[in-house]
Amino acid sequence: MKKIVNIPLQIIIIAFCCVTAYANDGHNLWLQKVKANPVKVVASSNSNAISIATRELQQGWTGQSNATVKLSLVKDASIKSDGFRLSQSGVEAKTDMGILYGVYELLRRQHSGQPYSSVVSNPSYNLRILNHWDNLNGSIERGYAGESIFWRKGNDTFTVTEADKALWQEYARANASIGINAAVLNNVNASPQMLSTQYLERVKAIADVLRPYGIKTYLSINFATPIKLGNLPTADPLDKNVIKWWKAKADEIYKLIPDFGGFLVKANSEGQPGPQDYGRTHAQGANMLADILKKHNGIVMWRAFVYNASEKDRAKQAYAEFMPLDGKFSDNVIIQVKNGPIDFQPREPFSPLFGAMKKTPLMAELQITQEYLGHSYQLAFLGTMWEEFLKSDTWQEGKNSTVARTTDGSIFSQRYTAMAGVANIGLDANWCGHHFAQANWYAFGRLAWNNALMSEAIAYEWLQLTFLPAEGGSTKEWEDNFIKPVQQMMMDSREAVVNYSMPLGLHHIFSAHEHYGPGPWYAPEKVRKDWTPPYYHQAGSNGIGFDRTLTGSNAVAQYHEPLASEFSSTEKCPEKFLLYFHHLPWDFKLKNGKILWDELCYRYQDGLDEVRNFQKTWDKVKPYIDEQRFTEVQHKLQRQCRDAQFYKDGCVLYFQQFSKRPIPYDIERPVNTLEYYEKTDPLTMQESIKQ
Ligand code: GCU
Repeated sequence: MKKIVNIPLQIIIIAFCCVTAYANDGHNLWLQKVKANPVKVVASSNSNAISIATRELQQGWTGQSNATVKLSLVKDASIKSDGFRLSQSGVEAKTDMGILYGVYELLRRQHSGQPYSSVVSNPSYNLRILNHWDNLNGSIERGYAGESIFWRKGNDTFTVTEADKALWQEYARANASIGINAAVLNNVNASPQMLSTQYLERVKAIADVLRPYGIKTYLSINFATPIKLGNLPTADPLDKNVIKWWKAKADEIYKLIPDFGGFLVKANSEGQPGPQDYGRTHAQGANMLADILKKHNGIVMWRAFVYNASEKDRAKQAYAEFMPLDGKFSDNVIIQVKNGPIDFQPREPFSPLFGAMKKTPLMAELQITQEYLGHSYQLAFLGTMWEEFLKSDTWQEGKNSTVARTTDGSIFSQRYTAMAGVANIGLDANWCGHHFAQANWYAFGRLAWNNALMSEAIAYEWLQLTFLPAEGGSTKEWEDNFIKPVQQMMMDSREAVVNYSMPLGLHHIFSAHEHYGPGPWYAPEKVRKDWTPPYYHQAGSNGIGFDRTLTGSNAVAQYHEPLASEFSSTEKCPEKFLLYFHHLPWDFKLKNGKILWDELCYRYQDGLDEVRNFQKTWDKVKPYIDEQRFTEVQHKLQRQCRDAQFYKDGCVLYFQQFSKRPIPYDIERPVNTLEYYEKTDPLTMQESIKQ
């Protein structure tokens, strides 16, 4: 007979508390609960934002007990738009949102042990916007953290529950805490249904929850909506019935959502409809919408992600299409340009459009979701990538014409300045699928607020806030043994991904459909060439890489001097971009004296070794982390290690067919055959049936 042991209730309660206190599913992001001290808040104005600011202070104040914090609206020339000043006595700003941002900064500094008196902080961009690639059926294009937080299929598609509202509020709060002030709620591959009245009513419900946190709502639109939803025979932007249809739709939207932000448009790109279907230009399409939105103070974000299956190098096409249109857009249009000319690769040079379009405002589009960087399985801190991008010098207006300065109004005077990030948020408890993917959401917000921030500082701050010990306060021991090694791991992580997936300027050699794992071999007859990796790596017996110099596609000519010459020269081209701009023989000598083939193998091995080191780093910091987050990250790192090996072995074996050289003998031998890698889907580890 089973013996029943009587455990005293107190012990059960204590044990339960220990376990639950120790478990942390990551849902609170960088806004972990703290033991707050009493504080008196004195505000000079009254609004939703001020009430939120007051509540945040009461729940998060860890300064002196019973201190008084003043929240004051002031006239101060050094404070711009929603910027703020922190002082000993509190927060000063010109707007209520400025006060709220100041309060979040004050608390962030308190919780991460940074000083906070005499700080003035102004946003780099007016619009700091998340792009959700969420479909109306709840799925998310390139989403790796569960279904959409906004849309779902089923009988309750249009029901707005209390749980929905609570989640949207948490989302809004997290965004406001890092300065994000806008969200596009649906996929750029937009369904015409988005603008149906039923869906617009749900947009209104979402907008109502986001508004108090200063977040404006935007929508992606399908250019053919007048046909699909309005039953018109055409969507020609110059057709008067089409214009009339859009006017009426805009009126309907603004009646529901008076502060609606505007439209994001993917047109004539990857099969989406657009003005070119009617012989009109991108400018004519964008201006038609912009002119309608103008009276409502709305804007159009028009994407420059365009390319066709043509003989022209894909990397050149956006520039070729958009440069002739410079100066032809209405002043409430802003052109949204991906950071690189190809497509959100782990590394690419910046798009040559930045700084080149001088009479049209441009905004950068970054991808927070890790489409090409291991989805939510792999740890890749993207702050370093975005810092590299923002600091890239375009030379368009002389030295120091960095991408950051060409987009934030420092060089060109522009009515709107903006930066967009493709969100990595879903219904997963921890929002982003991987605990460390939260750092990318965080880094995007922080850089959109201040594009001069160092990624190192962002990583440090994020770690401090996210893993703050429950008992409160950081100690030197904690910083030395936890924060610093993990910060180093974050700082090294993106380069590790580059090395084990596409080193030395290789690009787009990913498995075809999910862009997860290697696919340099993927080249079925019927698939268009620019959707197959051999188009990009060009490996053959004579070498590897895409010749974008004068002897090749001459994409280098789209860059301003001295970059054009630098990228053209095999001597001067940074090695990180070597095979992006050059096709080189396998025995080409690199700066370190190694030949290209050997260096390629070593880079793949370096990437794998780095991930093995991340595993060691993480295991060592176990005592400093709650069980749940520790174990979940540990499992992901195991998977990442397996994936890195898959990449290394698959790519090295594949390229070896062309180099016909031995894999350097101090490099680990592949653990499987090339045939195995070609057949196995790295996402599922099953034999792939896709072709
Ligand atoms: C990439 C991505 C697509 C996306 C497209 C875009 O090609 O794979 O899923 O729709 O970019 O940015 O429009």
